[in-house]
Amino acid sequence: MKVMVIGSGGREHAVIRALKKSPEIDELYALPGNGGIAADAQCAAISAMDLDSVCQFAEDHRIDYAVVTPDDPLAAGLVDRLEALGIPCFGPCRDAAIIEASKVFSKELMKKYGIPTARYEVFTDAQAALDYLRTAPMPSVIKADGLALGKGVIIANTLAEAEDAVRSMMLDHQFGKSGDRIVIEEFLEGPEVSVLSFTDGKTIVPMVSSMDHKRAGDGDTGLNTGGMGVIAPNPFYTEDVAKTCMETIFLPTMHAMNAEGRTFRGCLYFGLMITKDGPKVIEYNCRFGDPETQVVLPLLETDLFTIMRAVTDGCLANVPVRFSSNAACCVVLASRGYPQHYEKGFPISIPEDCLSSVYVAGGTLKNGQLVTSGGRVLGAVATAPTLQEAVTQAYAIADRIHFENSYCRRDIGRRALQALK
Ligand code: AMP
Ligand code: GLY
Repeated sequence: MKVMVIGSGGREHAVIRALKKSPEIDELYALPGNGGIAADAQCAAISAMDLDSVCQFAEDHRIDYAVVTPDDPLAAGLVDRLEALGIPCFGPCRDAAIIEASKVFSKELMKKYGIPTARYEVFTDAQAALDYLRTAPMPSVIKADGLALGKGVIIANTLAEAEDAVRSMMLDHQFGKSGDRIVIEEFLEGPEVSVLSFTDGKTIVPMVSSMDHKRAGDGDTGLNTGGMGVIAPNPFYTEDVAKTCMETIFLPTMHAMNAEGRTFRGCLYFGLMITKDGPKVIEYNCRFGDPETQVVLPLLETDLFTIMRAVTDGCLANVPVRFSSNAACCVVLASRGYPQHYEKGFPISIPEDCLSSVYVAGGTLKNGQLVTSGGRVLGAVATAPTLQEAVTQAYAIADRIHFENSYCRRDIGRRALQALK
């Protein structure tokens, strides 16, 4: 079979590595992929958002199956377009991708179906939002409605910060149209857990839980990033919490999407906070998380392609999805300055014996040499029987990889290890 994966990050590299193990796949393409993915799949220089060219490529190359992982093309309806050409896909259609693409939609869905989440108000008018803030408790959380490259969420500690956030989103259009509507919500406290799940709309199968590290600096300081590292499983996601999540969040969300006529098929990501009142939803994503995928898929023992096709065909209940009992850790090596300004184009040196532990996010080939091309450059991943070993090994790999201006957090997994003590 000929399979194409749409996207170009570390997440796509992890998906491709997992698919590469499937005996059923003869040819694997990445659109556009990156300089690291090129070692595992044939890359074609077509942007994920150039829907016409992606469809043309699929027809020209007689693609049998497509995996769409980034949020933008899912929200733009790439799966609908490919399916109209008769190409089965892994990933939700546009009507279902709205669960991530509109925070207002997801908040209203949770309210309507009684799914636990932070209390909130929606605003389309800046003055009304500013008036509301004067009586709102601080900290409060200001969210742009639409997709904003993961940057559309501001936690405001003071009224002045909250007002600034509203003005920059609604009046200065910092996130373009994504900020025309905003959500102002209650600030929740507690450990965060990411749970990715497979669902075909009838069955929902949570994957091993994980803990992202979103802030740029050690001790969860500095700016929010796309994720500086991740561990799995997440020790705060106990069996009791998992059971509560299944009953109060996972199944109700799947049923709610069906009831709305928006059946979700693909990977549904639950960003959860374990508050003193129980688990609550912080956000939904309509796709695999990045970098969560880089620790979750290496622990998956079942063939990923078999699961994906079962999701597409609506027979996920027939596939036993198994994960190893090991732990995993991913340490992200970033370009100094990320998530703001940074330089690119530095050669990356990776020892031969580390290649299979590295998932490339921002690397491109220049005269055959891998050079940096993004803020997050790569993830060094290790799996081991204990979390402590996985963390130690991931850092041992990360420390053998070199490029100019590289930086990483030194405390990935620390909070989880403390919780295990
Ligand atoms: P999101 O893009 O919605 O995942 O938000 C980014 C980050 O902001 C989350 O991972 C949380 O750490 C934080 N966050 C979002 N909503 C809330 C909330 N209601 N209370 C506290 N923290 C939040
Ligand atoms: N790691 C969070 C996300 O993928 O949105």
